[in-house]
Amino acid sequence: MTRFGLLSLAVASLVQTGLAGKCHPSKPVLSCSAGAQPGLVTSCEAETFGGLVLSTQFWDTYTGLESEGQLLPEKSFTLHGLWPDFCNGSWTQYCDLNRQYDPHPSPNTTTGTPAGTPVPPYSGPTVDTFLAALGRPGRTLLAWMNKLWVAHGQPNTELWAHEFSKHATCFSTFAPSCFSSEDLNQHTDLLVYFSAAADYFNRLPTYDWLAAQSITPSNTTGYTLADIQSALAARHGATPYIGCSGPRYNETAAGQGSLDNGRTVLTEVWYYYHVYGPVQAGKGKPVEADVNGGSTSSCVKADMAVWYYERTPGSERRA
Ligand SMILES: *[C@@H]1O[C@H](CO)[C@@H](O)[C@H](O)[C@H]1NC(C)=O
Ligand SMILES: *[C@@H]1O[C@H](CO)[C@@H](O)[C@H](O)[C@H]1NC(C)=O
Ligand SMILES: *[C@@H]1O[C@H](CO)[C@@H](O)[C@H](O)[C@H]1NC(C)=O
Ligand SMILES: *[C@@H]1O[C@H](CO)[C@@H](O)[C@H](O)[C@H]1NC(C)=O
Repeated sequence: MTRFGLLSLAVASLVQTGLAGKCHPSKPVLSCSAGAQPGLVTSCEAETFGGLVLSTQFWDTYTGLESEGQLLPEKSFTLHGLWPDFCNGSWTQYCDLNRQYDPHPSPNTTTGTPAGTPVPPYSGPTVDTFLAALGRPGRTLLAWMNKLWVAHGQPNTELWAHEFSKHATCFSTFAPSCFSSEDLNQHTDLLVYFSAAADYFNRLPTYDWLAAQSITPSNTTGYTLADIQSALAARHGATPYIGCSGPRYNETAAGQGSLDNGRTVLTEVWYYYHVYGPVQAGKGKPVEADVNGGSTSSCVKADMAVWYYERTPGSERRA
């Protein structure tokens, strides 16, 4: 637990530097509320663009880069990202091509269609080198990220670059105008975003919340989606989105003849918030994943039909 405290302390001073010189409202404004409009509050002191904030996590069973030491944390999901949706639930991506560090932009245009602005692949120094150059706060965060922000099928640093350039650039409170030019030259904006993403993640121990309800990884027993949802909703304070991949239930032997075509392998959990003040202040108010009427899961609903698989032997880092 100590390491989380250290991390927040190290970054708190930098966040304040970033906001120095702007006037602060007496009470932090809640994103997506009537007051969170440009003109009523500055875009650095409240989230005025992507006010529906998602803290997203993966459950992977292997990384594909085990031979290079890229291993999964024991008894923990991994961080995927911190995302800005519009208040109405739609979203956009790659909002600042001056801060494009993603070597494999996906999609490769801002809209994902040929009509969008092309997002050029990045080939400069990897973002981990920016963090390493930031002294102790950067190196502390980097060590944490290599343990808990672990990618599947690509080096960790590429996932981090992707999350920053695709998503962080679409928050108003991580915009260049919220940082000094010195901070921008040193890439402190990346440190502040990565640190905020870590901060939200640290308060969402999905593995522990599930384990407390005896929902633990198993290659022999499936679980029921509703049980997963209620275990997490009770702790978070609102129902998260549960994402599954893998075969559709109606295409598995167990689901033959069923009309339930949900997917069967648990892979993601997305927690939704509105946030008080800057996103990086970490003051989230949980909201339901279907706050805008969307779906809360892509998984199969049938009893005991969701697989929460055990990790592949050798894919976990031993403490
Ligand atoms: C959702 O909000 C965004 C930002 O205000 C807007 O651009 C978009 O058109 C809205 N989408 C819908 C479906 O209303
Ligand atoms: C994006 O990818 C598609 C599919 O691979 C390709 O046809 C297209 O030329 C690419 N566009 C850009 C701008 O790179
Ligand atoms: C399963 O559902 C999918 C999606 O609705 C459908 O395309 C597919 O034909 C179904 N498969 C079977 C075997 O019923
Ligand atoms: C459990 O099953 C998953 C999915 O097939 C596989 O990736 C993993 O290696 C298995 N783990 C063990 C311990 O058998």
